[in-house]
Amino acid sequence: MEQLNPRSVLVTGSNRGLGLELIQHLARKNSPPKWIFATCRDPAGSGAQDLKNLAAKNPQIVLITLDTTDPSSIKAAAAKVTNCLKGAGLNLLINNAGIINISNLETETPESMAEIYRTNVIGPMMVVQAFLPLLRKAAHESPLEGMNCSKAAIINISSQAGSITSVFEWQWSHIIGYRCSKSALNMLSKCQSLYLAKDEILCVALHPGWIQTDMARSMLRTAPYSGVASLMCSYGDGQGSPSLTTEQSLQAILKTLGRLSEKNTGTFVNWEGILIPW
Ligand SMILES: NC(=O)c1ccc[n+]([C@@H]2O[C@H](COP(=O)([O-])OP(=O)(O)OC[C@H]3O[C@@H](n4cnc5c(N)ncnc54)[C@H](OP(=O)(O)O)[C@@H]3O)[C@@H](O)[C@H]2O)c1
Repeated sequence: MEQLNPRSVLVTGSNRGLGLELIQHLARKNSPPKWIFATCRDPAGSGAQDLKNLAAKNPQIVLITLDTTDPSSIKAAAAKVTNCLKGAGLNLLINNAGIINISNLETETPESMAEIYRTNVIGPMMVVQAFLPLLRKAAHESPLEGMNCSKAAIINISSQAGSITSVFEWQWSHIIGYRCSKSALNMLSKCQSLYLAKDEILCVALHPGWIQTDMARSMLRTAPYSGVASLMCSYGDGQGSPSLTTEQSLQAILKTLGRLSEKNTGTFVNWEGILIPW
């Protein structure tokens, strides 16, 4: 059976939500990666306390400052990771950091849309550029055949909200800037997969499911449309909670990452690896 066994992993936005859960799950694997680079905007701040507690118990977790909107921060993070890896490559890069705002076509602003685009699209593009030499090194030096997440891979955490064919819950929330940013991230993932196929670097856009994080809770609090209560109750526990716990999402995501191969590069999949229409 395929398994996820990268020697090194880097996750952006790992101080809370899905990113923190990813780090937790990677650290408690039977054979955890030797290097888990847990990056976030402010590792010294109170918003990273849970991550710091986790790192204190797991020596393979390395905390690194990385603001995905700041080129100099990304460059400095890449230099630190290169230094830690002492000549080895980076196997798995997970672009997880993301933001949302609640808007519709009339309330979306250029400033907010640009900020979302900077974080959700330009950030992952710059992060990949900075870490590409390490991903290429991992792909080049791996004894593994084909493409997989234990060898060299980029996983862009996208959202079904960015699907154009199957517009997810439009009646519930319009979130114009967020939807457009995730559609653009999907195209970025496709372009990365085409460009990096020759290097045998797998690239996938992955929707993690509708999960209980600050982001999801902020949407539930502020969703302004009529009928929202009944829609919310159609999710999960019927109390308006999102449909998956982060635990459920993460267990499925790690299994899916272990199964991805060259057949999947350039695709848009959900937490279980099921194709989502672009
Ligand atoms: N939750 C869901 O139901 C759901 C569904 C579909 C897709 N997603 C996607 O899953 C990913 C994680 O979302 P989440 O639900 O875990 O959200 P969350 O709880 O709001 O966490 C977002 C994370 O991104 C970080 N972040 C934001 N801007 C950043 C920047 N410029 N540089 C570095 N880190 C930054 C945040 O750090 P700070 O603490 O510094 O703000 C935080 O760690 C996002 O890409 C989101 O779009 C989530």
